[in-house]
Amino acid sequence: MTAERLSPGDPNSFSRPDEVKVTHMDLVLDVSFDTKTISGHVVLSVEKVNVEAKILILDSRDLTISMVQDFDTKQPLKFELATSSTTFGEKLEIHLPDSPNFKFKISVHYTTSSKSTALQWLSPEQTLGKKHPFLFSQCQAIHCRSLIPCQDTPSNKVTYEAKITAPHDLTVLMSAIRQGEPVKTDDKKIHKFHQPVLIPSYLLAIVVGDLQSRQIGPRSHVWSEPALLDKAAYEFAETEAQLSAAEDVCGPYVWGVYDLLVLPPSFPFGGMENPCLTFVTPTLIAGDRSLVDVIAHEIAHSWTGNLVTNSNFEHFWLNEGFTVFVERKIAGRLHGEASRHFAAIGGKTYLADTIESMGASNPLTSLMPDLTGIDPDDSFSTVPYEKGQAFLWYLEELVGGPGEFDPFLKSYIANFQYRSIETNDFVQYLKHYFQNTAAADKLEKVDWQTWFHSPGMPPTFVNYDDSLAVPCKALCQQWSDWNNKGCPEPVCMSPEDLKTLSPSQIQEFLAQLLLGPPLSCKTVEKMQQIYGLDSVQNAEIKFRWLRLCLRAQYKESIPLAVQFATSQGRMKYCRPIFRDLYNWEDARPSALEAYDKVKDQWMYVCAYTVGKDLHVIQ
Ligand code: BES
Ligand code: ZN
Repeated sequence: MTAERLSPGDPNSFSRPDEVKVTHMDLVLDVSFDTKTISGHVVLSVEKVNVEAKILILDSRDLTISMVQDFDTKQPLKFELATSSTTFGEKLEIHLPDSPNFKFKISVHYTTSSKSTALQWLSPEQTLGKKHPFLFSQCQAIHCRSLIPCQDTPSNKVTYEAKITAPHDLTVLMSAIRQGEPVKTDDKKIHKFHQPVLIPSYLLAIVVGDLQSRQIGPRSHVWSEPALLDKAAYEFAETEAQLSAAEDVCGPYVWGVYDLLVLPPSFPFGGMENPCLTFVTPTLIAGDRSLVDVIAHEIAHSWTGNLVTNSNFEHFWLNEGFTVFVERKIAGRLHGEASRHFAAIGGKTYLADTIESMGASNPLTSLMPDLTGIDPDDSFSTVPYEKGQAFLWYLEELVGGPGEFDPFLKSYIANFQYRSIETNDFVQYLKHYFQNTAAADKLEKVDWQTWFHSPGMPPTFVNYDDSLAVPCKALCQQWSDWNNKGCPEPVCMSPEDLKTLSPSQIQEFLAQLLLGPPLSCKTVEKMQQIYGLDSVQNAEIKFRWLRLCLRAQYKESIPLAVQFATSQGRMKYCRPIFRDLYNWEDARPSALEAYDKVKDQWMYVCAYTVGKDLHVIQ
């Protein structure tokens, strides 16, 4: 059966903001840990775009809708909620009041399901403190519809306000500005928020838990469970420096507050750019600030993604490719141009590894995939990130380098801020910006078709400065030579090798080894003897080390790999480790058994994608 495009503007949403659009949401919700549900109502401010329109179409997923009303007249409104559920949830159609007005306020009263795919409910035992339950959301790409009946498409933007009732001893935070102190009522407290800047639905976020904060900069606090606060404050102390570097690249920061929230280990991503409050995985806490490029990435989204937004997830590279590009500009400003180049080399290695495992002719490896009938969770990979940034760097060199491209980038952001755009909007603006310059002819010759629509590795890469990558490649060469010679004694490698490398260089050394053929068990055993990588805390290093061991079919590594992949739920780590375990027959039973035990402690999206990787979910 060929799938249908759900709507002209977005293959993954039923909604039609081109007919009637939601402009503001006013949420009044109660969080119940007993029933694991959120219930209450949302008042949607809507505007007819087409004066003839009679119906407001919303997305929903597993929501129980009890009543829809005209907010001003309190008249009940007729609505139909589709009964059969699809990959994209259930269409909700609301009949607009019969009136000549073109603006309305509509209140929808509803309850979420305890299985809402946007939410993870943690029992006290699953938290660090063990005393209080915890709730967090992850709406991107299309899970907001399981939290709020809404136009769940990034082609539309809204402002929002919220009044959230929750148990009195817990803190509530959202992707918004807190308004006043929480107000006590019985054994609960009401917390108020407002987000005055237009945002797409996927940026709506909520967390409820035993949280404390510490100030880490003039506009930043870090929030976490009390036991982690000291470590978190140390780890993310560079936040303000990263923010100012980002402003230097992109323009003024418009969101007021930039706070960080460290989530429990089951948070499925490295970071999520929720406005005013970036969500991050605790696996970033390496103890030495070596993984804070993820913070630079989420900061960069404050412009690329959150101000200039992809209009649907086929144009996801506009969000992520630009953000990786800006993230590395920040690294360049703070740590020198060589580190910007080094990060891009790491990205190229990562992309090569991803394309190798997805298959070079896989349509999802093109920069602008067709997502008709495809759940964005299934298309997610590093391709839009790294192919996107490789493309932007290629364009930067083409137009004459950062001297020309940096002002363009600022101008692109200023031009499209507060809007949602498609790839073609970017291309037209780029051509327009450089039209009377020496770059115009060069832009005419760009092979846009291949860049946007061909699967596999990009057509070209610029020559990155590899000064920081040279020692990584050299050490990789030494080990693969030693391996290829059948592991002769003696070894010239020593613990000193790693002492002269930075954590990101060690990571790249291992990534380079992973690109080659599997090493022998003897080789990884020797590496462990010399470097003691089994006990490394840095999650990026540990991840690549464990993959090397699994590829070598080194049996002793199976329990370590299982332990690592089940002690957190970050998909970047869990998915490849579980895939490696599955692909090795001797390890497959441990993988399946471990998955069975851990899947209920993971968030839906992680349990779903790893389940698919392990062929236990269709
Ligand atoms: N916005 C993404 C996370 C995301 C993407 C969630 C799509 C759901 C659907 C976030 O900004 C991100 O890219 N995180 C990366 C950070 C890395 C590229 C530095 C991650 O989680 O690893
Ligand atoms: Zn991102």
